[in-house]
Amino acid sequence: MSVVRQARLEDAQAIAKIEIDTWRATYPGMLPDRVLLNMSERRQTSSWASFLRHRPEDVWVAQHPHIGVIGFGNCGAQRDGTVDYTGEIYTLYVLPDLQGVGVGRALMGALFQRLEASGHRSALVWVVRGNPARFFYERLGGKQVMHRPIPVAGQPVEAIAYGWRNFSAVLGRRARSRGEPTGDPPVQ
Ligand SMILES: CC(C)(COP(=O)(O)OP(=O)(O)OC[C@H]1O[C@@H](n2cnc3c(N)ncnc32)[C@H](O)[C@@H]1OP(=O)(O)O)[C@@H](O)C(=O)NCCC(=O)NCCS
Repeated sequence: MSVVRQARLEDAQAIAKIEIDTWRATYPGMLPDRVLLNMSERRQTSSWASFLRHRPEDVWVAQHPHIGVIGFGNCGAQRDGTVDYTGEIYTLYVLPDLQGVGVGRALMGALFQRLEASGHRSALVWVVRGNPARFFYERLGGKQVMHRPIPVAGQPVEAIAYGWRNFSAVLGRRARSRGEPTGDPPVQ
């Protein structure tokens, strides 16, 4: 059973490793091989350390009692000003061997809570069109908002934005699953 907590600076390397492992497991055929081959643990660690120094409250990890950090995500203000969803999930990755047991949903809940605490009620996430992770976002009540090529590692890749107009419904479902009453409508 993993716990979800705010990330610390010393998690940067574990986060970088998970990012590289999941990219290489998820994106063959969707991103050019050389992008996947050229990923560097040193560079990614340094980039995550920099993000964590500036915005530690926007990065959350799932920690397994024996394995350590097994998933992470980060969030913040929406970066594409063309739609009126104010928050954005920037990344969400769970180690391939530990996908499908609820870690992603728990991380999304923590990221939505963080967005809510910083004043957001709506959010979107970009997902590469060919990535089956989009069904995960649909399962969590996300609706397709738009699609267009987005730059991934410098390459334009066709992607879909999934949005939640009011993500409190997703948080409400988490509370219900713990047996707590909420006034929110059910998600799907
Ligand atoms: C997408 C991802 C974060 C989901 O995390 P996860 O821990 O595997 O998902 P969960 O176990 O919390 O699943 C929550 C629900 O979504 C469903 N779900 C998850 N992935 C799914 C998929 N690919 N297709 C359909 N349903 C899916 C689960 O069955 C579960 O449904 P339930 O509530 O009825 O039980 C994870 O699979 C992952 O890291 N994928 C590779 C990296 C990636 O693509 N990240 C997203 C980049 S935008």
